[in-house]
Amino acid sequence: MGLHPSPPTSSTPSPSTRATGRVCVLGSLNMDLIVQTPRLPTPGETLLGGEFLTLPGGKGANQAVAAARAGGSVSLIGAVGDDDYGRRMVGVVGSEGVDTSGIRRRGAGSSPTGIAVITVATEQGENTIVVAGGANQTLTPAEIEDSPTKVRSAAVLLMQLESPVDAVLAAAQIAKHGEAGTTTILNAAPAQRLPTTLLERIDCLLVNRSEAAALTERPESSEPAELANATLDLGPRTVVLTLGSRGAMALARTGNSVITWYAPAFRVEPIDTVAAGDAFAGTLAAVLAAGRTGSLGEALTLASAAGALATTKRGAIPSLPSLAEINRLVMGQPECAARQE
Ligand code: RIB
Repeated sequence: MGLHPSPPTSSTPSPSTRATGRVCVLGSLNMDLIVQTPRLPTPGETLLGGEFLTLPGGKGANQAVAAARAGGSVSLIGAVGDDDYGRRMVGVVGSEGVDTSGIRRRGAGSSPTGIAVITVATEQGENTIVVAGGANQTLTPAEIEDSPTKVRSAAVLLMQLESPVDAVLAAAQIAKHGEAGTTTILNAAPAQRLPTTLLERIDCLLVNRSEAAALTERPESSEPAELANATLDLGPRTVVLTLGSRGAMALARTGNSVITWYAPAFRVEPIDTVAAGDAFAGTLAAVLAAGRTGSLGEALTLASAAGALATTKRGAIPSLPSLAEINRLVMGQPECAARQE
């Protein structure tokens, strides 16, 4: 099933066919170690930074919390170490109403909780991120297959690539097995070559420009439409391409044709772009899972507003907006709603 096709009208394509509002996220939990710098350092350079922050993050945790704040009923599958960061991460995610029973806690002395070293350039709001995956990298296909219910009962399975690809594949296989009917969204971040067995089980591939360029082996400077079309050629039914300050676009196959959506960027004052993509992904998943909207275009609008709002606050999880904040921005800038082209 998934983002199923329907005739090309102004409200197509429809989102998930099973509108339970349940989102299962498979992904990473990291403690983010963040230093603010006036600008990003160049290779070999020592730069005097400013404030140091230790804040909860990780693409899986961020997207799970974003989906929960956008109104989804969310469970998170992942792994943490037996350490303070791990306990804090599970506590933070749980306090957002996310079901944390699918988070494995590794034994004492084994893999530590993942961390991300992040620099945020205060002048441009841009960032660099280096992740030490730790326990995230220990998730096995057998562990996913052991408890398939979370995936099977979800309307949407949302995954990224900070977890082992074979675990991601195991979850996608459960989602697409028999009558499961779970829509699969893969946020291909960080980008890497993906096996066909995984790509053919993905309904919606969500990428930014550099990820699309890496997946399709094209220059990042390529036109967005070219990048999106090349990504669609990899096999998913829908591609969503985020373009930062240029908004987002989506291509959706419907029978023999492809529908294009374009969402202009909402106007905000960005100070920190960390987790903007995660806010987008989690909101997209929650809206599609709820079947609250009649079209991918509306999901795109809300996701785009969530991504914009996340850039107005520091950190990852602390920056993720509530549904009320998202709706307020959408109502205030109706001209930024996604439109079909
Ligand atoms: O997308 C932002 C996230 O990437 C950060 O929270 C960091 O932990 C890395 O996973």
